[in-house]
Amino acid sequence: MAVPAPTRATMAPEAALAELARAVREVADGGYDRRIPTVGPPEIADLSRGVELMRTRLVGALAERERAEAERERLQRRLGQSQRLESLGQLVGGVAHDFNNLLGIISGYADFGAEQLAPFAARDPRLQPVLADIEQVQAAARQAIRVTRQLLTFAKSKPADSEVLDLNEVVESAGQLLRRSLGRQVELVIATGAGLWPVEADRGQLEQILVNLAVNARDAMPEGGRLAITTGNTFVDADDAGRPPDLKPGRYCRLTVADTGTGMDAETIERAFEPFFSTKPPGQGTGLGLATVYGIVSGLGGSIDIFSKAGLGTTMNVLLPVAGEAPRGS
Ligand SMILES: Nc1ncnc2c1ncn2[C@@H]1O[C@H](COP(=O)(O)OP(=O)(O)OP(=O)(O)O)[C@@H](O)[C@H]1O
Ligand SMILES: [Mg+2]
Repeated sequence: MAVPAPTRATMAPEAALAELARAVREVADGGYDRRIPTVGPPEIADLSRGVELMRTRLVGALAERERAEAERERLQRRLGQSQRLESLGQLVGGVAHDFNNLLGIISGYADFGAEQLAPFAARDPRLQPVLADIEQVQAAARQAIRVTRQLLTFAKSKPADSEVLDLNEVVESAGQLLRRSLGRQVELVIATGAGLWPVEADRGQLEQILVNLAVNARDAMPEGGRLAITTGNTFVDADDAGRPPDLKPGRYCRLTVADTGTGMDAETIERAFEPFFSTKPPGQGTGLGLATVYGIVSGLGGSIDIFSKAGLGTTMNVLLPVAGEAPRGS
């Protein structure tokens, strides 16, 4: 009859201690996942259990530290990004302001010239090409004024014509316009939350947010896909871990625009709100869409966040302060 091999509990004290020591050494060398076995006579088994308890606590503490570190880094990045956009906004605002004035003069004199020339050009065909040239100047000046206005929106210096609004109503009435600009390939789903709190904003600016986000989503889904627009109420707590660092605690309306498109890589997410940042071929994107959205949202005291991964679609999350509670000009 064969002698049974010693079980863990019947292991001799020396062997048990040696196994325990080996396991502890492995943990000490960084193998934190190494379980400490319970071996040997009761005293040694107790010791093993005590060491194992210490190991699991250590593993828990390390995971917690890692999580806190990652959270701190995320907030730091987020804060860095909003400070960068803030100073970019100041710079762009100053330049755009001066440009706007100059463009006003250019377009004013072009209009003036065209007006004076028109009656003569009507009688003298030799003057018609000159009039056509002035009209080119007028058209270019108008286009440049549109771009500078958008830059001024990014810089938050354009005063909004605000009123108390039901975001759901704005979303639903923009639905038709959105459907038209999305084309047949993209399915539009609108799900508005019940009992939505009112917001205080400029209707045109809210529509601009919707259109810009929807058009970006469409461009990210050349083969078609699904665009979901949802709304809801949200509280932001002071100690909310996921809170954007520049957002005051309070009540907010949430507007989420999610697509099933190409998604964005980390570098694109980082720069998406910068004016003139575009990954589209020249002539197809000015890179002012998200800069404009950012300017409107931050002008309202809200926030906008991108959740996206290359290949996995994009979700844009907008929070707008509830009317009367807006921490304006923050
Ligand atoms: N829903 C989305 N899915 C994937 N990428 C996106 C999405 N929205 C924005 N992007 C990326 O962010 C970049 C900046 O967007 P933004 O709207 O500011 O400019 P644009 O769309 O390129 O040009 P414009 O809006 O001025 O015509 C885009 O070029 C694209 O790379
Ligand atoms: Mg765009």
